[in-house]
Amino acid sequence: MAHGLLQGKKGIIFGPLDENSLAWKIAEKAKEEGATFTITNAPVAIRMGKVKQLSEQLDAPLITADATKMDDLEKLFNESMEKLGGKVDFVLHSVGMSPNVRKEKPYTDLNHDFFLKTLDISAVSFHKVLQTAKKLDAINEWGSVVALTYIAAERAFPGYNDMAEAKATLEAIARNFGYYYGSDKNVRINTISQSPTKTTAGTGIKGFDEFYDYADKMAPLGNADGESCADFCITLFSDYTRMITMQNIHHDGGFSSVGVSQEIVEMFAEKKGKNKDE
Ligand SMILES: NC(=O)c1ccc[n+]([C@@H]2O[C@H](COP(=O)([O-])OP(=O)(O)OC[C@H]3O[C@@H](n4cnc5c(N)ncnc54)[C@H](O)[C@@H]3O)[C@@H](O)[C@H]2O)c1
Repeated sequence: MAHGLLQGKKGIIFGPLDENSLAWKIAEKAKEEGATFTITNAPVAIRMGKVKQLSEQLDAPLITADATKMDDLEKLFNESMEKLGGKVDFVLHSVGMSPNVRKEKPYTDLNHDFFLKTLDISAVSFHKVLQTAKKLDAINEWGSVVALTYIAAERAFPGYNDMAEAKATLEAIARNFGYYYGSDKNVRINTISQSPTKTTAGTGIKGFDEFYDYADKMAPLGNADGESCADFCITLFSDYTRMITMQNIHHDGGFSSVGVSQEIVEMFAEKKGKNKDE
């Protein structure tokens, strides 16, 4: 049920690839809540993915941009302001890719050129987006910027590989840029630390299915799905969260606060042939 939370707001949404993408679901909800926005992705994603379909479906202009290229980002912000008729109120950064993960390089034997690429695409791009927006004064006062992250930024998750460093950097950029953008223009910047979700980027991680199930059994509410991530993201874009900035907010059904769950204990007990009350 829509509530008109983004009525009259304008935005830019990075990263919808197909209907499983978190950005795809966020774009659909933003439309339902009354926002107008442009959507963007890298040239290869626009050729291979279904982004054009989403653009038509939501009547949201599609602007190609590689999030690591400053010229592309400048063009994206300028064209977005032109097409939307003014500055934007929200920006979603939903961008991530690791060539080391793609090529199945183990963490202890990384290709360091790939590592730098991972950092550039998945983290530094966020700084580039914010720097471009600030330089062009493209975000309205009290605007809201959100990037998507994962708890492997804070704790070791074998298989998440060099994306863990990228997410730690991404979260630090939200905090540090949030200070400057907040002081100068009241623009707020946060990251959402989302449960494992079955998307192209998510399922590319080694052992994804197993840690998806593990997180689901650990979290008292179970894993947060893409729909609920979209709902939460809309509240962060709305005026109801005006005083939240520089935060990394866990959206994970409680996973990050649990040491061990009863379900996991029982799984081990069962393995040892013990019954429930022993
Ligand atoms: N799926 C999960 O389990 C999960 C959990 C927590 C956080 N996240 C984060 O959510 C975000 C979105 O990922 P997703 O799971 O929806 O997967 P996804 O594969 O649908 O989205 C990743 C997007 O990044 C885009 N991208 C890659 N390189 C780019 C570049 N150079 N320029 C512009 N765009 C580029 C891709 O084209 C794709 O659209 C990522 O930051 C991811 O790390 C995902």
